[in-house]
Amino acid sequence: MAQHLVVFTPSGKRGHFEAGTPILTAARKLGVDLDSVCGGRGICSKCQITPSYGEFPKHGVTVADGALSDWNSVEQRYQDKRGLTPGRRLGCQATVQGDVVIDVPPESQVHRQVVRKAAADIDIPLNPTVTLHVVEVEEPDMHKPSGDLERLVAALDAQAGLKQAQVDLHVLPSLQPTLRKGDWRVTCAVHDEGDGPRVMHVWPGVYDGSIYGMAVDLGSTTIAAHLCDLRTGDVVASSGLMNPQIRFGEDLMSRVSYAMMNPGGDAEMTAAVRDGMDALFTQIAAEAEIDKSLIMDAVFVCNPVMHHLFLGIDPFELGQAPFALATSDALRLRCADLGVNVHPSARAYLLPCIAGHVGADAAAVTLAEAPDKSEDLVLVVDVGTNAEIQLGNKSQVMACSSPTGPAFEGAQISAGQRAAPGAIEKVEIDPATKDPRFRVIGSDKWSDEDGFWDDIEGTGITGICGSGIIEVIAEMRLAGIVDASGLIGSADQVGTPRCIQDGRTNAYVLHDASATGGPLVKVTNPDIRAIQMAKAALYSGARLLMDKFEVDTVDRVVLAGAFGAHISPKHAMILGMIPDVPFEKVTSAGNAAGTGARIALIDKSQRAAIEATVRDIEKVETAVEPKFQEHFVNASALPNSSDPFPMLNAAVHLPDVNFNTGGGDAAAGGRRRRRRG
Ligand code: FES
Repeated sequence: MAQHLVVFTPSGKRGHFEAGTPILTAARKLGVDLDSVCGGRGICSKCQITPSYGEFPKHGVTVADGALSDWNSVEQRYQDKRGLTPGRRLGCQATVQGDVVIDVPPESQVHRQVVRKAAADIDIPLNPTVTLHVVEVEEPDMHKPSGDLERLVAALDAQAGLKQAQVDLHVLPSLQPTLRKGDWRVTCAVHDEGDGPRVMHVWPGVYDGSIYGMAVDLGSTTIAAHLCDLRTGDVVASSGLMNPQIRFGEDLMSRVSYAMMNPGGDAEMTAAVRDGMDALFTQIAAEAEIDKSLIMDAVFVCNPVMHHLFLGIDPFELGQAPFALATSDALRLRCADLGVNVHPSARAYLLPCIAGHVGADAAAVTLAEAPDKSEDLVLVVDVGTNAEIQLGNKSQVMACSSPTGPAFEGAQISAGQRAAPGAIEKVEIDPATKDPRFRVIGSDKWSDEDGFWDDIEGTGITGICGSGIIEVIAEMRLAGIVDASGLIGSADQVGTPRCIQDGRTNAYVLHDASATGGPLVKVTNPDIRAIQMAKAALYSGARLLMDKFEVDTVDRVVLAGAFGAHISPKHAMILGMIPDVPFEKVTSAGNAAGTGARIALIDKSQRAAIEATVRDIEKVETAVEPKFQEHFVNASALPNSSDPFPMLNAAVHLPDVNFNTGGGDAAAGGRRRRRRG
């Protein structure tokens, strides 16, 4: 059959199509952005296009008068009832008859301008639980008495293929005026997650706007959310706020204790997190300049303690063996049940928890990073106050959590602070002079480069953030300032006045502005002990999973979480935080939990898929594993007193220094087992 050239503007996409191909079909085949919400039945008018006729040297095409099929009865019906802009055709009705140039006007493009921030750029198949459908409802007839709702349900069945739709109660009071206002044409927002369609909202006529969903990562420290357009899958705004529960305790265990010690404490924390969540939804809707009531679906991922507190469940049982969850399965609720005031019918989906200390956030990381589909053996670590660790490949995945505590976030560190302007985030130490250079959040220059001090004039240097503390300790180890047991040498032993006496041990001065009233930023032995304990907990969890897998090495390591995004693989390995692999095999997945939440929001088929995957993950409880303690003790050394780290040793030289002259007790602190937190 004859093939004709179709050129779309403004995209410039072009292709050849058989005579008789609808323009909407050609657009879809070429990936041209042309809208449709009625399935090409000629009633939504979202697919309007403007054909151009004549000579187009730029496109090398001449468009004859008969390049498109004749105006048809469906278009005429639309013209009679609603009116089409002159020159426009319906893309679902007009078919290709010759070479043609088609302009897609902005209002027919689904992908309107969007703002993307802080969301990973990934392609997710568009398959949301809530979709829009335009239908024409039969008018009432005295001779065939039936309710307006029953005729709407019949129209959804006949025109949108939605069988036996149910309707949320709040839709009913406004249904009759809406149908009449729309002249018996309405747009319905319909929820369907395999449990049957349910009408959530009805607009008169053809609704021109969009509907939205929120993907939320509810962490112990921050709540981060992406507002997504459910018609395009695009992220339209992202934002976050501090978890208001912080005032009840920095880490999870202190919040569990708060609930135990204070009658009603759990309810107080539930109210705090729900208020914070509602405020975040309001804030993001305002940023995106959308009506909050257009948010119709939300996916939440969180660790088990946050999961319970958000649901209004006392987390008491999670604080003691056997760490029983009140419920581990995925939950399908309404946003209103969780105190989130958006559309009255808005749904809420919580991913399943993997185990008592491996939450729905880890399940979301599984969804985003897919260790269960990996050919090679991958270790996925989500570093927070509790590290959630998964090891696996497509034949099996195991998971555990390890109590790293808040040291990696800069807490428990003498000059530690959260990652914020003014914090030292990168460090290099010259092995010969033992002098440092560093970078500070707020400037992209090193401290010995021109313009550095101008860049940070507003904040100055305020402390060291989590990634900075890891780098500085690793650099101190490389420069021979700290030994394998974690002890800092004295000025005489190391040969630099930057090593100063600090109580019974030594400290290394990274930055000293005390002469001018500024801060003295130093790394002390207790700082190193705190990091030793945190990293030993992390490594022991990973090592335990490797034991269970009966392997001594892994093929690659993925660091998830905001912190993981900033850790340098080399420095993490010098500290022995992660198993020995080539540096290039350590990658960062950014906020993988947030990405997993987005996947479950945009593609509903992934919900059942992750529920099945989670059921198959083998859970390992570190607290009851006898080998954990042994691994922990070995992992307290830098990098490890038992595991050899051959690849690390081939890549860097770790000086053979020993500062343990008998007086200090620095390394012993690293052997003390942390409580879970
Ligand atoms: Fe709805 Fe063409 S797709 S009118």
